[in-house]
Amino acid sequence: MKSLLLPPHPKERRIVFKNAWTQGYTPDIDCYLQHGGYEELKKAIVMKPGEIIDEVKKSNLRGRGGAAFPCGVKWGFIRHDDGKPHYITCNGDESEPGTFKDRYILHNDPHQLLEGMAIAAFALNVHLAYIYIRCEFPKAAGIVTKAIEEARARGFLGKNILGSGFDLEIYVHQGAGAYICGEETSLIESIEGKRPYPRIKPPYFPAVLGLYMSPTIVNNVETFCHVKQIFKIGSDEYSNEELLAEMTASFLSGVAGIEQKIITSSAAYLQGWLKKMKADPKLIIQVSSRAQKAADYILHYQNDDPG
Ligand SMILES: Cc1cc2nc3c(=O)[nH]c(=O)nc-3n(C[C@H](O)[C@H](O)[C@H](O)COP(=O)(O)O)c2cc1C
Repeated sequence: MKSLLLPPHPKERRIVFKNAWTQGYTPDIDCYLQHGGYEELKKAIVMKPGEIIDEVKKSNLRGRGGAAFPCGVKWGFIRHDDGKPHYITCNGDESEPGTFKDRYILHNDPHQLLEGMAIAAFALNVHLAYIYIRCEFPKAAGIVTKAIEEARARGFLGKNILGSGFDLEIYVHQGAGAYICGEETSLIESIEGKRPYPRIKPPYFPAVLGLYMSPTIVNNVETFCHVKQIFKIGSDEYSNEELLAEMTASFLSGVAGIEQKIITSSAAYLQGWLKKMKADPKLIIQVSSRAQKAADYILHYQNDDPG
C-alpha cells in the first residue's frame, strides 16, 4: 500500500511517525520488536512511578488531542495511593474532518501506542485501560485488538508484566459514531454505555471524577506514542526546540485538519499553511502559542524549498 506520508524533509527529525511510513514496516509485534519495540517499557517498569511522571513533565510533552495541555501536569493530578481504582482511556475518536494522524498510527504502528499506554499505566497505578476508537474505523479496531493479543502473549500486557508484578489489561471500545464522543467527558459517558452528553466541569474533571466516577487520564493516541519516545531519547533531548517541527506538523493537522499532506512535516509546506492561517483569523485563533513558537522556528531556519 502506498504510504500517505511523504519522506521526511532533510531538516526534519521524525519521531512518532519514524517507522510507520517506512517501506516494509508492518503492524505486527515481530516487526515492532525488530525496531526496538517495548525496550522503553522495560526501562520504565523498573523506575518509581513518580520518576516516570517527572520525566514526562521535564519533556514538556503537550497533548495531541487539540488543547495542547501539558501531559505531565495532567498525570500529576492523580494521587498514586488514594485507594481508588484509576483508569486510562486513549482517545482515538479523531472525528475532525480531514484528520488522519491517529488512524495512521492505529493502522501502522499499534504497538507503539500500547507501549506508551503501558508506561503511563504503570506510572499512574492503572490496571484497566480502554482505547476508544471511532466506529467508522473498524479496520483500526481489528488491528489494535490483534496487537493487544500479541502483546499479552509476549508478556507486555496482562498479568505480571515482564515479571514486575504489575498487571494491566487494555480493551478496545468502539465509538458511538458522534463527533462529540471525542470530547473527553462524552467519551467517558460513551464507554459507560450512555449517550455521549458532556459532563459539566467542575466537578467532573476526568482526573478527579472520570470513568465510573474514578480518577481517569484521557490522552490522545499520538500523545501516548510520544511517551514511549520520551523514554527512548530522554526528556532533555525531547524537549529540545529542534524537535518542534514534527510536533507542530501533527499538531496543526490536529487543530486545522485541513489537508493530508500537512502531516508530512515538510517545513516549506508548513510555511505555506502558516501564511494561510495568518491570513485567516478563524484559523489563527486555533494555533496555540507553542505551535506558533515552533512555526516561527521553522520560518527562521527554513529558507530552501524541499520541492
Ligand atoms: C468537541 C470536541 C471534540 C474532541 N475530539 C477529540 C478527538 O477526536 N480526539 C482527541 O484526542 N481529543 C479530542 N478532543 C479533546 C479531548 O476532550 C481531550 O482534551 C483530549 O483527548 C486529551 O488528550 P491530550 O491531553 O493527549 O491532548 C475533543 C474536544 C472537544 C471539545
